[in-house]
Amino acid sequence: MSTILELRNITKNYPGVIALSNVSVEFAAGEVHAICGENGAGKSTLIKIITGAIRPSAGQIRYDGSAVSHNDPVASKDAGIACIYQEFNLIPYLTVTENVFFGRELTRRGILDRTEMRRQTQTVIEQLGVAIDPDARVRDLTVGFQQIVEIAKAVTHRAKVLLMDEPSAPLTNAELHHLFRIVRELKAQGVTVLYISHRLEEVFELADRVTVLRDGCHVGTRAIDEMDRQELIAMMVGRELGSDYPSRKNPPGDVALRVTNLESEKLHGISLEVRRNEILGIAGLVGAGRTETARAIFGADSVRSISVELHGKPVTISSPREAIDHGIGLIPEDRKQHGILALLSVRENISFSSLGQFVRGLFIDRQHEKDKAMAMREQLRIKTPNLRVLVSTLSGGNQQKVVLSRTLLNESDVLIFDEPTRGIDVGAKQEIYSLMNDLADSGKAVIMISSEMPELIGMSDRIMVLSEGYCTGELTRDEFTQESILELASAGDQS
Ligand SMILES: Nc1ncnc2c1ncn2[C@@H]1O[C@H](COP(=O)(O)OP(=O)(O)OP(=O)(O)O)[C@@H](O)[C@H]1O
Ligand SMILES: [Mg+2]
Repeated sequence: MSTILELRNITKNYPGVIALSNVSVEFAAGEVHAICGENGAGKSTLIKIITGAIRPSAGQIRYDGSAVSHNDPVASKDAGIACIYQEFNLIPYLTVTENVFFGRELTRRGILDRTEMRRQTQTVIEQLGVAIDPDARVRDLTVGFQQIVEIAKAVTHRAKVLLMDEPSAPLTNAELHHLFRIVRELKAQGVTVLYISHRLEEVFELADRVTVLRDGCHVGTRAIDEMDRQELIAMMVGRELGSDYPSRKNPPGDVALRVTNLESEKLHGISLEVRRNEILGIAGLVGAGRTETARAIFGADSVRSISVELHGKPVTISSPREAIDHGIGLIPEDRKQHGILALLSVRENISFSSLGQFVRGLFIDRQHEKDKAMAMREQLRIKTPNLRVLVSTLSGGNQQKVVLSRTLLNESDVLIFDEPTRGIDVGAKQEIYSLMNDLADSGKAVIMISSEMPELIGMSDRIMVLSEGYCTGELTRDEFTQESILELASAGDQS
């Protein structure tokens, strides 16, 4: 086993945080190496240090036989280290070919060699075993295909090491399949893949070895076939976890929210109801209209028609503000765009839309606000040096927890969670599940949109399935199976 990349005693400090502490790992040529750890463990920091996007506070990197001091992302890219960040770096209005060669255009006698660039792009895409038109504009591709374009770009430029930071998070099942196949194909070609994911099934399916980080420290690196799921979890969280889905005490009560005849550009006659003490799951493939449905109920998008009843009384909701005033809360899917107020502190982010609770006369009761925020930080294990730091300095998963806690504090009657556990580590997932259960048990009505079948099946009382903007069916607990859900989720194809 030859080593392609080696980290020696890497440390990275931020004010009040040790993101990485004396980490040493070797990566073998041609292996798939997973990096696991809780939110804030230091995974993304490690990746960014390898690409040169950030500079370590101490330590060395050796790559391909020699010491590197790449504090420069361009140099590391040229040396064959490619990285696929969760926010893609593609340019939407350019074609696939133009994106693959962006910044490294081929020329012949000073003129852009479009034919050759197109040919090479075509070849690589074929090698990857997918059908993408090199002339298609990237903005017209699905997220999964956009990711494959990113991979094609890395392959075209002969990457030896491919870093993937939570590549599977935005993908549908079918797209995930492509991704797995491609990762195996790259491995067969001798490419080293570093793979970060919170979904442990993927780690066991793909990886040869796994490195676990906890609080910035290197807990260990092990061959994947020498360990099981429980051991990996124990390494990550430093404690044993109980069963995944807690059970609930109270049966569903009266109808809390009833939506009828929701019509919009993308939605066709959607109706739903959710009761107190109930969790309604909404399943569907990417693009089925799940997020649109949530946003329409929340008054965030304009629609052609919708009737909403809360506890049996008709209400009109034409803005998120009105929705919140009526006791509806939405935890958005896309925390970057809709959830996080990047320029505010963690505490301000947590208490943002529940400020009303903290007003005493003319003044905001800062102490009360702070206590609540502290309690949330504790309960969800939000990893932050204190509540005053900017929320944008937290790791991805911890930002997600902040958005969650904001809505939880909001004392809504109806809570809509859109992909609540995306990007969240195993331990915190369980905290979120038990929080959702507590909310339902305390009489709230909960809607959960999720692409993860096991959690939908584990948490919901009923599951409604959407496909291409239509409701294609509803399943009760005894009808839940991955197959029954998938069948309904792809039922709209003929319409
Ligand atoms: N620019 C920054 N300023 C201050 N602290 C930072 C900065 N970037 C990262 N950190 C801190 O470093 C630690 C490690 O963060 P990192 O993003 O590497 O975690 P992660 O393992 O990728 O987590 P996740 O699973 O949530 O993505 C976190 O505590 C984070 O708050
Ligand atoms: Mg991260």
